[in-house]
Amino acid sequence: MRIILLGAPGAGKGTQAGFLTKRYNIPQISTGDMLRGAIKAGTELGKMAKAAMDAGQLVSDEIIIGLVKDRIKEDDCKNGFLLDGFPRTIAQADALKIAGVDIDAVIEIDVPDAEIVKRMSGRRAHLASGRTYHIVYNPPKVEGKDDITGEDLVQRDDDKEEVVLDRLKVYHEQTKPLIGYYKEQADKIASLTYITVDGTADISKVEAAIVSKLG
Ligand code: AP5
Repeated sequence: MRIILLGAPGAGKGTQAGFLTKRYNIPQISTGDMLRGAIKAGTELGKMAKAAMDAGQLVSDEIIIGLVKDRIKEDDCKNGFLLDGFPRTIAQADALKIAGVDIDAVIEIDVPDAEIVKRMSGRRAHLASGRTYHIVYNPPKVEGKDDITGEDLVQRDDDKEEVVLDRLKVYHEQTKPLIGYYKEQADKIASLTYITVDGTADISKVEAAIVSKLG
């Protein structure tokens, strides 16, 4: 199973990725988590990515495409993978196509901008694993602590309202065109399924809707 999760920042891609990767036994490839890992490790990639991420802008296609192409060659991707946060531009989607990577399902999680801004202020993250929580909608068992490791949760720098608004602008300009792109591909390619789910429903209902639509 090769899955792409599409949706605005904060639509719930990471949250649903956690369920889907267990269900289909495939790895989650989150470009955002990979970049945050590189920043934490102080690598050249991290240094290049940090300024763009802090400003809510996209990291260059060239860097991201190379990163993902290398990652999906790894052994754990032999039976499939879930792409969370990639592709984010038409150029990234074209690069997948040119590389001959056949996708089975594109899942669009639809959430209006106003709801996104509300959600982001309550998000807390465990940066080492990429696990996310919400102080109201999806609280951790112990306040401020990751459920699995017990380590501290933090608020991501790019979850501040002004950066969220910039990220949404970038989403509408550069990522949203992928909805039309993949719907058109799904009309032409029988093995590609495109589904849209209402991401404003409860987390468990969003999961159930995805599973039922995917079959
Ligand atoms: P990235 O980390 O990918 O951020 P994003 O796409 O903006 O997505 P988020 O992780 O913010 O949100 P999400 O949709 O996963 O939502 P979540 O499940 O956490 O990218 C960060 C940056 O890296 C980018 O801005 C860019 O600079 C760079 N980058 C990454 N990939 C790139 C690429 N391909 N090209 C170029 N640059 C790239 O949920 C959000 C909150 O809502 C949580 O608190 C959660 O608990 C809560 N929640 C989830 N579902 C629900 C629900 N149904 N109801 C109520 N609350 C919910």
